[in-house]
Amino acid sequence: MGRRVIISGNWKMNKESAGAAELVKGLLADVKNMSAEREMIIFPPAIYLKEVSEMTKGSKIKTGAQNMYFKAEGAFTGENSPKMVKDAGAQYILIGHSERRHVFGETDALINQKVKAAYEFGLLPMLCIGELLEEFKAGKSKDVCKKQLVEGLKDVSADQMKSMVIAYEPVWAIGTGEVATPEIAEDIHKFCREVLTDLYSAEISSIVPILYGGSVKADNAAGLIAKENVDGALVGGACLDAASFMGIAKA
Ligand code: 13P
Repeated sequence: MGRRVIISGNWKMNKESAGAAELVKGLLADVKNMSAEREMIIFPPAIYLKEVSEMTKGSKIKTGAQNMYFKAEGAFTGENSPKMVKDAGAQYILIGHSERRHVFGETDALINQKVKAAYEFGLLPMLCIGELLEEFKAGKSKDVCKKQLVEGLKDVSADQMKSMVIAYEPVWAIGTGEVATPEIAEDIHKFCREVLTDLYSAEISSIVPILYGGSVKADNAAGLIAKENVDGALVGGACLDAASFMGIAKA
């Protein structure tokens, strides 16, 4: 299969300067042992993004921000702009993470503005989607993912989609230890690919990496990534320790 395989780590609101530097040093020491075909992206807290981007410059590790506002600058207290994310040395931007949606109330409309801002300012978006536990139990996972894709990708062109990354993170699997089975993940990823085919084309759909996130660990990563439509992982808790994250990267 020709798609990129990406192992990414979302640090969330964890680590301070010393811990961030220690984690990055640990990753830099071992990342050469990751398969050459794989890519690694880490998403540190914004306040350490520049430091981490400088440390990883020239290595196989790319960086991204966990969130941003969609405006270039202005009176938006507490927010970071796409230009600032770029200026800090990051290439990627995580958009629509479940915690942004469900803790901070981000809507699909706001998420769509951020996706468009990413392209406008030359950042590569990783759009996160995924259903809540009650939606999963009610058999609505696909409806929810479809809505989040359709609304999140509104007015995004086929050409822009060539650099899109999607992350499917079922909310019930995030931080719970309840990882989706490889079969569940494959079923949803395949469905998302069909949605992308309908929205764009079979060609675009076949290019876009779809990562799985939610309680990924070194011992369950291989089974997930072995699935045809699972193109890597977005890792939370298990990316905070270099050995554990590298275990996933090499799985
Ligand atoms: P965990 O790996 O801790 O379940 O978190 C997943 C996640 O939210 C990554 O963005």
